[in-house]
Amino acid sequence: MPSYDLVVIGTGPGGYVCAVRAAQLGLKTAVVEKRPTHGGTCLNIGCIPSKALLHASELFEQARLAFGKMGIDAAPRLDLKTMMAFKEQGVEGNVKGVEFLLKKNRIDAFHGVARIVGPGEVVVAGAKGDTQSLHARSIVIATGSEVAHLKGIEIDEKRIVSSTGALSLPDVPRQLLVIGAGVIGLELGSVWRRLGSQVTVVEFLDGVLPGMDGEVRRAAQRLLERQGMIFRLSSKVTAVDTSGPRLKVTVEPSGGGAADIVEADIVLVAVGRVPYTDGLGLTEVGIKLDDRGRIAVDQRYATSVPGIWAIGDVIAGPMLAHKAEDEGIAVAEILAGQAGHVNYDAIPNVVYTHPEIAAVGKTEEELRAAGIAYNVGRFPMTANGRAKVNMTTEGFIKILADARTDRVLGVHMVCADAGNMAAEAALAIEFGAAAEDLARTCHAHPTLSEAVKEAAMGVAHRTIHM
Ligand code: FAD
Ligand code: NAI
Repeated sequence: MPSYDLVVIGTGPGGYVCAVRAAQLGLKTAVVEKRPTHGGTCLNIGCIPSKALLHASELFEQARLAFGKMGIDAAPRLDLKTMMAFKEQGVEGNVKGVEFLLKKNRIDAFHGVARIVGPGEVVVAGAKGDTQSLHARSIVIATGSEVAHLKGIEIDEKRIVSSTGALSLPDVPRQLLVIGAGVIGLELGSVWRRLGSQVTVVEFLDGVLPGMDGEVRRAAQRLLERQGMIFRLSSKVTAVDTSGPRLKVTVEPSGGGAADIVEADIVLVAVGRVPYTDGLGLTEVGIKLDDRGRIAVDQRYATSVPGIWAIGDVIAGPMLAHKAEDEGIAVAEILAGQAGHVNYDAIPNVVYTHPEIAAVGKTEEELRAAGIAYNVGRFPMTANGRAKVNMTTEGFIKILADARTDRVLGVHMVCADAGNMAAEAALAIEFGAAAEDLARTCHAHPTLSEAVKEAAMGVAHRTIHM
């Protein structure tokens, strides 16, 4: 039986990054993946294909609405097949990249479903009925998550789709009904609206993007409504009638009341994701789960069974690729005797709509609930020179700083390129910067990032361009 210092189960962003870091640190490492390609949800059916379609559809919309204003005479025509091929090409390039990284770092890759049969032993069941046993000094579970389902609404990935089906629709639906105004609902809703669908989003709660800063949530809703997205808030879908040529969706107020029927060609179910642990043999080995079905781990990612560790979407915390990656690095370093660590206060959260929405650190609601006094610096993109010239003046940047120490506690952005600018906010929080540190840092002109500096200056009421 081949023997390893470490066997990682799952090669999503958590698993493959963990394996690479472990190999760098001298651990003899193997990975097991049940998909034909590496990269997990993120590269195959998540971050990468969704961002490809967001990019292409945004350019399509700009060509339709903005190019003329810049003197570019273009009348774009959609070729959906080619757009899908463009997306596939992006996915292929990325998954091949992971395969290359595994080889480069001399990591053995096994394809098949892994089951833990005891501490130190993993059995891999291949697609052709073959099995292979692996001995491992340590096992890291990085099996990720899967789509959450709604009772009574069966996803067939044709007319009632999850994000996976919504990334590969063969035609632009005339009417798309999205259940859930979370990240997937708004991103993929944006893609299909830009390509020509009428998009209605039904959300259980009374606002979009639960968990984000209240001011950001309200601004995001307003901007998306202005683009034509229709929101039915405080509402739930209780049934979808698939018997006719068009879907008949029953929508009810969340708190109960009269239902009405909305017709749609496609329904996208986007009500969250749940940890994926099927077939791993967790109960048999005695690995404990928490109350939400996630693998319970301590601060060092150790499960309840010695020698078995877990990271990424399958444990608590935000279901984000970069969170999984950082946990992968941390656990590899811990296994190699180093002090691996993730700062959960500095994890950026980005929604890739247009404008983008990005957040790092605490929201105003969280600070108020914790009784922490804070100052607010705000800067609207209408006052940023580059945004003006680019015609991307929607949105604002807001910085929350401790009233006593001036330390940056939260940064919230609704603006073009917010995702890239969130890196500066994460760095500030990671380094314990004060708002004044950001305000005194020279930012290149003309860039959108000057709005970060101006918002930081705003904390001390000394914004220049307002
Ligand atoms: P996964 O990526 O889910 O990987 C787990 C892997 O384990 C899978 O490949 C699976 O096949 C394998 N596996 C499971 N069980 C076994 C087994 N028993 N044996 C062998 N292999 C097994 N996050 C972001 O940060 N930014 C984004 O823009 C973003 N966009 C997204 C868009 C969509 C549509 C979706 C669905 C998700 C998106 N996410 C995004 C979330 C991101 O994809 C996840 O947070 C991330 O993939 C989690 O990484 P992971 O390594 O924990 O798990
Ligand atoms: P989500 O948790 O972001 O949003 C789900 C939404 O559905 C919530 O607003 C919730 O209130 C609503 N909801 C739940 N039940 C409902 C019901 N019965 N009827 C109506 N609404 C209901 O989950 P989503 O969008 O499915 O995404 C899953 C996860 O994937 C995200 O939490 C995120 O971690 C990750 N992701 C990250 C992205 C990014 O970083 N840009 C992009 C896409 C996904």
